[in-house]
Amino acid sequence: MNATLQSLEASRLKLLPKAEVHLHLEGCFEAATIAQWAKSEGVALPRPQEDLFKFSGLADFLDFLDLACGLASTTERLVELSYGLSQRLADNGTGYADVIFNPTHWHAWHGRMGALLDAMDAGFKAAEQDGLPSVGLCVSLLRTQSADEATELVDALHTMRHPRVMALSVDGNEATAGRTGPRFADAFRRAGNVGLRRTVHAGESSGPEGVWDAVNLLGADRIDHGVRAIEDAALVSMLADRQIPLGICPTSNLVLRVYPSIQEHPIEKLRAAGVRVSVNTDDPALLGASLVGEYALCRHTFGWTDEVTKSVAQTSINASFANADVKAQLLKSLKDW
Ligand code: ADE
Ligand code: ZN
Repeated sequence: MNATLQSLEASRLKLLPKAEVHLHLEGCFEAATIAQWAKSEGVALPRPQEDLFKFSGLADFLDFLDLACGLASTTERLVELSYGLSQRLADNGTGYADVIFNPTHWHAWHGRMGALLDAMDAGFKAAEQDGLPSVGLCVSLLRTQSADEATELVDALHTMRHPRVMALSVDGNEATAGRTGPRFADAFRRAGNVGLRRTVHAGESSGPEGVWDAVNLLGADRIDHGVRAIEDAALVSMLADRQIPLGICPTSNLVLRVYPSIQEHPIEKLRAAGVRVSVNTDDPALLGASLVGEYALCRHTFGWTDEVTKSVAQTSINASFANADVKAQLLKSLKDW
């Protein structure tokens, strides 16, 4: 596709009404911001700024999150980040996003969960007041945490009842943590009982067994990634029958080496098998992804027509934890795209 056609395609995809359901606040740092904050804190960067986002895989990437989030030590810095995330949504024509944040990475805020949530909330509120899209938060456990830490988090969220918080999530590296579904089952059950939605990273650093556990043990309303479900035909059928949506991030899976090429990525096979799929950016700044770019990539690689594109956008809206008004508004405008 030549440059003019590419830019026309991007403009059309920006206008596509859609939600994003798999996006980490931890993945929204610009390299220049990290470099500037590190300098002012006297913290050494692991690599020169131009190579800062060159990761060897998920483990290396997750270590980097600790460094970057550790620098966000003040309310002003968190407001800058969360406002910047909302700006990124608007730049891609995204109408609403469920944003994952994992308290374990934000070292300066340990033991101050309420203050941390309020600081993020201040940035999102300011953005909404400026007409930028609305955001809900999914507070995430790390796969390596203990069962007690997990239930403590759920109890704290229940006590706070912060209006920005929609869901409990779990992310991190299942390859190093091993099978942890049973360990988190109680926390996820409690979360469901107190009205939190549930979203689970699985089938990225785990195989199909992680996705089975996400559904059977953690009661996932939605799976983040879930792509390796493709290795188990019975699992694909179950996901399709139960209409459990997958929040898929093609570029992330390439950069973090889950698949060697986009041609080998299973999103289209899953979609064609009747699984509800949406496309997302995961960690857009760190992994060099944009939501418009993810749609364009899938259309180009898999020949998605406008009809298919609309059905994926529809899944993104329906699978989101947005309120009924936001969903209805987005679905209405999607009809006219
Ligand atoms: N945290 C941020 N991005 C992640 C990913 N792709 N997998 C697991 N945990 C994450
Ligand atoms: Zn993720």
